[in-house]
Amino acid sequence: MFYKIAQKVMFQMDPEKAHNLAIGSLKSTANSPLNCFYAQKLQAAPVEFMGLTFPNPVGLAAGMDKDGECIDAFHAMGFGHVEVGTVTPRPQPGNDQPRLFRLKPAKAIINRMGFNNKGVDNLVANLKAAKSGAMVGVNIGKNKDTPVEQGKDDYLICMEKVYPYAAYIAVNISSPNTPGLRTLQYGDLLDDLLGSLKAKQKDLAERHGKYVPIALKIAPDLEPDEIEKIAESLIRNEFDGAIATNTTLTRDGVSGLVNSNEAGGLSGKPLNSLSTKVIKQLADCLKGQVPIIGVGGINSAADALDKLDAGATMVQIYSGFIYRGPELIKEIVDAYRVKTK
Ligand SMILES: Cc1cc2nc3c(=O)[nH]c(=O)nc-3n(C[C@H](O)[C@H](O)[C@H](O)COP(=O)(O)O)c2cc1C
Repeated sequence: MFYKIAQKVMFQMDPEKAHNLAIGSLKSTANSPLNCFYAQKLQAAPVEFMGLTFPNPVGLAAGMDKDGECIDAFHAMGFGHVEVGTVTPRPQPGNDQPRLFRLKPAKAIINRMGFNNKGVDNLVANLKAAKSGAMVGVNIGKNKDTPVEQGKDDYLICMEKVYPYAAYIAVNISSPNTPGLRTLQYGDLLDDLLGSLKAKQKDLAERHGKYVPIALKIAPDLEPDEIEKIAESLIRNEFDGAIATNTTLTRDGVSGLVNSNEAGGLSGKPLNSLSTKVIKQLADCLKGQVPIIGVGGINSAADALDKLDAGATMVQIYSGFIYRGPELIKEIVDAYRVKTK
């Protein structure tokens, strides 16, 4: 109920202003009685994933809380995990505004934010300050002005800094809004990146006496043979998980709508079937050797269960959460409990 009113107000505002207002409000109310406007207690629906136990299979996808400012608030809403980031080694402003667009009739969003974030040191401070004990995944990326050939170094810097405070680390090579980033999804660049991150993980696990799983986040705009090669590389480099998918460059299902010609990645309902198809293809290639988080266009419990049927073990939501609010988390958790009873 409260979300419906809040949404009415926010949908009158510029999307990025509404986003900043929401983040600011959540940040200031997370650990106060005012969190009663959005907190909800959900029934336990534990899931084993990458060697960790999550309280339920529904996570917040990366990009909503880029700097980890509202971890406790999202935890209070019932999310089983919160993926913060994408964070880069150095702070960066991202692309020029406007860069975030609603496509309301399609329950979709187009964004070209470009990894706007306050840098990894600021994120680490926020991770340390979080009080709720939420399972936090940290999604890492490279700065825009770091050449792709040296991108690996940015991932290693972020990994080193966030490692002690993360439940898992998500390696984002699939944003369409950082020039050249998606080239890391192919061939030797991919194998080299995954191999280096795996070596770093081994080193950090020894140093910290704690094994933090690493997962790769991929795009939906991949051909079947490209998905197969990524799967082979994930297995070869003993990655712990995969996250499928990021936003799409396609515009299927939105042509003619206001904002549909904006540059950037499309998310929400029109992405749903493409993302589920990629999850299915990836799962077929991985044959259970690497577990998957399914994300992309989930707007109902049925959409989430489709992702699980396609081969995912957990799901994440972003756009569906904007259009439906916290009730979507509860709806999915309840359906999952019925399914797994
Ligand atoms: C405004 C916005 C910003 C995003 N920023 C990031 C990001 O920084 N890193 C990332 O890995 N994914 C990012 N994403 C992608 C989401 O995490 C998710 O993969 C995608 O939106 C598909 O899920 P959805 O259809 O539920 O939104 C962003 C999505 C949106 C809409």
